[in-house]
Amino acid sequence: MSEAFTKSMARNIFFGGSLFFFLVFVGLTIHTTRELPERDHRENINEMVVLGKKVWEDNNCIGCHTLLGEGAYFAPELGNVYTRFGNSKEAIKGFIMSRPVNGIPGRRSMPQFNLTEEELEGIAEFLKWTSEVNTANWPPNIQG
Ligand code: HEC
Repeated sequence: MSEAFTKSMARNIFFGGSLFFFLVFVGLTIHTTRELPERDHRENINEMVVLGKKVWEDNNCIGCHTLLGEGAYFAPELGNVYTRFGNSKEAIKGFIMSRPVNGIPGRRSMPQFNLTEEELEGIAEFLKWTSEVNTANWPPNIQG
């Protein structure tokens, strides 16, 4: 059997395999490029969502939180916090304003960021928009 396996057969497997997976790669890239605009509902990005993203970045929320899985694992996932808080922007704003909660042994608390009413509205709009991205039902449970 080993004698029947020639150099040219090995070369064909190499080139054939390379070509096959290159074509799979091209196909998946085209598929992703077509899918993304439908999934990220970018047409709903308004001024408040943009402001919220800026507040998110300026305050380094990602330094403690994950957003759709990306970020730090110190604090809860926020990609679906809007749904977790009962589809309520007011609940998100109220939570952020009421921090920190100190004096409970062993419990982490988020610091106070002293955001303005407009910044709070922006962050709530940004987190609402994020929760509406079609992530194929990720995260798999409401806790994040
Ligand atoms: C220093 C770390 C830290 C940073 C930075 C931080 N957070 Fe938090 N955050 C926490 C912790 C810890 C909790 C959970 C404990 C608590 O109740 O405070 C939390 C909880 C939350 C929750 C509630 C999540 C839930 O499911 O209960 C929201 C909403 C939130 N943070 C938003 C933000 C936003 C918006 C920013 C940026 C402006 C931010 N966080 C920055 C540490 C942080």
